[in-house]
Amino acid sequence: MNPSNSAPDYAQRRAQLAAAIGPKGIAIVPTAPEQQRNRDADFLYRSDSYFYYLTGFTEPQATLVITGDGKATLFCAPKDLEREIWDGFRLGPEAAPGQLGVDAAFSMTVLDTQMPALLDGCDAVWYPFATHKGLETRVDGWLGSVRARVRFGTLCPEQQRDLCGPLDEMRLIKDAHEQATMRRAAQISAGAHIRAMQMSARMLREGQDVREYHLDAELLHEFRRHGSQYPAYGSIVAGGANACVLHYRADAGPIRPGELVLIDAGCELDGYASDITRTFPANGKFTGPQRALYELVLASQEAAIAVTRAGARFVDPHEATVKVLAQGMLDLGLLDKNKVGTLADVIESRAYFQFYMHRTGHWLGMDVHDCGGYNEPSELGQFSERKDPLSGALIKDRPSRILKAGMVLTIEPGIYVRPSPGVPEQFHNIGIRIEDDAIVTDTGCELISRGVPVGVDEIEALMRG
Ligand code: GLY
Ligand code: MN
Ligand code: MN
Repeated sequence: MNPSNSAPDYAQRRAQLAAAIGPKGIAIVPTAPEQQRNRDADFLYRSDSYFYYLTGFTEPQATLVITGDGKATLFCAPKDLEREIWDGFRLGPEAAPGQLGVDAAFSMTVLDTQMPALLDGCDAVWYPFATHKGLETRVDGWLGSVRARVRFGTLCPEQQRDLCGPLDEMRLIKDAHEQATMRRAAQISAGAHIRAMQMSARMLREGQDVREYHLDAELLHEFRRHGSQYPAYGSIVAGGANACVLHYRADAGPIRPGELVLIDAGCELDGYASDITRTFPANGKFTGPQRALYELVLASQEAAIAVTRAGARFVDPHEATVKVLAQGMLDLGLLDKNKVGTLADVIESRAYFQFYMHRTGHWLGMDVHDCGGYNEPSELGQFSERKDPLSGALIKDRPSRILKAGMVLTIEPGIYVRPSPGVPEQFHNIGIRIEDDAIVTDTGCELISRGVPVGVDEIEALMRG
């Protein structure tokens, strides 16, 4: 079988985690709680990423316990015909070992009574810190029950450790199955961007009143049509000046000919996110100033892509981007050479920050801003201190993470021009970001989101059709 089509090996992941917590460790991984939206309506349920990564189990009300000897115990919702009539099928603890490969399963109703026995004799209890409201208190309660019986010979774990450490390291490198799912998610999202671009041009050609929500509807249609469960994050569909609001959401703003549209949207597929941004002319034809800025952002993205490969540092694409953008800002007159000096000065003083105020990428995986440290673990002790030129705050610079094959990150430079004295008027209110998803390989990176074109001519051709 092609390994990219094989099922995820959850048991192998659990075994790897068991090895990481030591022979007397115990790990507790709850899934996400159900969340009320308002009165009788809940938000659509979405499992906890860590829990899903270790089980593939999507029911709410469940907790996984792994012990250092390699045993996995699942607590899950008990079978209940009446609840199943209202809410749907429950696997139940009787069927869970056969279905999920765990060693034992119990009803969630006995979690509090079973946990002290599972904790007794362990040296460290591991759970994800600061991710599940109330979990710390609950663990304290279980540990209190173990301590209350020390005169009867129980042995209480002495350490509480953050499970995010070992789990984040595991999730940072995507296996063949994860990569295949992410390729497919990116492909669906690319199709959705194409659909929104074409709809924008078509509706404007037909003289319709086009709104941001019209394009958002195209994205959602394409996501769901291909089996995506939901958008991986709130879609940004920003017409004109709205593109300069970094966390803008799809709303009712007008899509006007002559203006740009920035769409940052990606679907989630089987637990994995995609994250794509395209910026395009609403009616399919770039104006001169739009094109000049767009080509600058694209050139900066190309510079970032060129340095993304195993062995490079996470920060390298950002630094490559900044160099190109800062030079372009000087060349196009966004920054006044007489005021800000040379390219080196602009980088040193961070003068480019006026128009480029975010980083060039982040890890991508089950979470859109995926887990995983951005400092190199083997060099954590090293740091240098400097004063931030803009805020004056003291910054500790640590060696950036060395990229490895199988890591997935976004490459997303942008430029956002708010009207300001001295800034050429032709660029006012233009916001551009270009974002692609990259799997790091030994020799470079695989861009999995290029199913939607990025070049000026290709975008114009696409929107004419
Ligand atoms: N869509 C979120 C981001 O680009 O980081
Ligand atoms: Mn992103
Ligand atoms: Mn994005």
